[in-house]
Amino acid sequence: MAKFSDIKGFAFDLDGVIADTARFHGEAWRQTADEVGTTWTPELAEGLKGISRMASLQMILDAGGHAEDFSQAAKEALAEKKNHNYQQLISTLTEADILPGMKAFIESIKAVGYTMSVASASKNAPMILDHLGLTNYFVGIVDPATLKHGKPNPEIFVRAADLLNLNPAHVIGLEDSAAGITSINGAGETSLAIGQADVLSDADLNFASTAEITLVNIEAKMT
Ligand code: BG6
Ligand code: MG
Repeated sequence: MAKFSDIKGFAFDLDGVIADTARFHGEAWRQTADEVGTTWTPELAEGLKGISRMASLQMILDAGGHAEDFSQAAKEALAEKKNHNYQQLISTLTEADILPGMKAFIESIKAVGYTMSVASASKNAPMILDHLGLTNYFVGIVDPATLKHGKPNPEIFVRAADLLNLNPAHVIGLEDSAAGITSINGAGETSLAIGQADVLSDADLNFASTAEITLVNIEAKMT
């Protein structure tokens, strides 16, 4: 793991890290699972975190043995409907939906002079950051539509370090998903996980909740 003194920037996942939106993705995918006849389980819900829209749909179809039951056009319609349902659920997002402690953490990073970028698989990320009033804190948002591979591939976190103009060795990546932690580790950044330590056991640093994430606490875990 890098030394805290080597850190110059932070690459943030959005859903479940900055915004309390992972539960809305889960709710909307649950409706899709019901519609296609796949049993919804906590394991499926956890495994979908961080996974792109079409890959998530494929996982839901595979989990129920329905991979062959839908044409490409039908899959696109299902994904479109999920996104519509998801956008309904997040239509009233405000600053109050920033996860506990994250606004203060982001402000403290800015005050020290570190840079920040966003590495979210979500095509809704720019709109959500706007709703939360956070867009201007970040030097850039990786556009997931331009990626060849989604998480757990490292590409998105490599691109997030590029936006910061930093070598990945100087970056901490923050994630709430196992796929995202694998992506950060593959990119050569220090991985900070938020959530259950047993699910996110590959992370360099584990925090049970966003409320505990401060620069002081990160430094303590890195020394
Ligand atoms: C990730 C979420 O951030 O974005 C996933 O963790 C979601 O649950 C993915 O499927 C893609 O999001 P969107 O908004 O482009 O469908
Ligand atoms: Mg997430």
